[in-house]
Parts: sequence; C-alpha cells; structure tokens
Amino acid sequence: MMKVKDKNFVEMLSKEDISCIVDRLAAALNADMAGKNPYFLVMMNGAVFFATDLLRRITIPCGLAFVKYTSYEGMRSTGKVTAVLPVPADVKGRNVVVVEDIVDTGETMKAFLSEMQRYAPESVRIVSFLAKPAAMKHPLLIDYVGKEIGNEFVLGYGLDYDGLGRNVPELLVYDGK
Ligand code: IMP
Repeated sequence: MMKVKDKNFVEMLSKEDISCIVDRLAAALNADMAGKNPYFLVMMNGAVFFATDLLRRITIPCGLAFVKYTSYEGMRSTGKVTAVLPVPADVKGRNVVVVEDIVDTGETMKAFLSEMQRYAPESVRIVSFLAKPAAMKHPLLIDYVGKEIGNEFVLGYGLDYDGLGRNVPELLVYDGK
C-alpha cells in the first residue's frame, strides 16, 4: 500500500505482470510491423516508462520520437489539442505506431489522431498499455491494448495523481479511501 497525497493506492500489477504484458505487445508488434519500418511516436509524459520498456523489446528497425500535446477544458469541447512538442514532419509516408499509457474517454487520442492526419503518414496504429472501455466516449480502435481495466483510477508506471507517482515501478489502483 502507498499513500500519495490524500489517497491510498494498492498494487494492481507487479513488475513481473507488467513485464509479461510488455513482452506480449512487443511480440505482436515485431510480427505485424516486420518490413514496415515503423515509426513510434511516444505520448509524453505518461507513456515514457512503458515506451522505453516496449522499445527495448522491438527487434525490427524502427524510428522513435516523443510528442507532447495538451488538451484543456476550453478546447476539449472542440476536440482540439495544443502541441507542446509536435509530431515531426518526417512521419510523412511512414507507418506510425502511437504509444500511449492509457486511453480513458478517448478524447485525447481522438484529437491527436485528427492532428496526425495533417502529417500524412502511410498508416497509424495505436498501442496503449491500459484502456478503460467503460469510460470511452469515442469509438476508437486501439490496435494493441496491454490490459483493460474498469472505471478506476490508477497510478505508477508513468501515470500520475496530481503530478505525483509517475516513478512508481508497479501499477497501483486507488482503493477508494
Ligand atoms: P482521455 O482523453 O480521457 O482518454 O484521457 C487520457 C489521459 O488522461 C491519459 O493520457 C492520462 O494522462 C490521463 N488518465 C486517464 N485515466 C487515468 C488514470 O486512471 N490515472 C492517471 N491518469 C489517467
């Protein structure tokens, strides 16, 4: 158990559980993307831990870049995002794999995907460590999902609670107290 600010969190996935999930996702990507020279775009900040674990297991030649987009209340309704670190122009004509930590309502991913189209990639796939299907407001195909979870709040392995806890190596879940 771990207390972060005012909330208690308990373990949901151990380091070993996480490692098994990442092994499975990497194996699928190595098989599906062979010969496609994929270009991994990592969504900062949350996906950084997952991405470095995943990319170490990718055995085919690939590109890697980090992107950072923020969506905030006023713009959320319009489905727009602001680029803090934009998509690099050289994704044009490439097979992009977007690496995300979690897809919750899907708003961030939906807005990011429409932004991506301006860069004219050949194809776009999504790999997300976690997904909350019950929370999803936008029908989105997430090609590779590490684990589906319920409508609960998780922390660690890159995910934060109010700016804290990204560094926790396990995945923890808020226990309601
Ligand atoms: P969406 O736009 O609702 O899909 O939200 C996606 C973003 O919300 C993720 O990239 C996370 O930064 C954040 N998020 C959603 N659920 C959680 C959670 O359970 N813990 C921590 N961050 C979360």
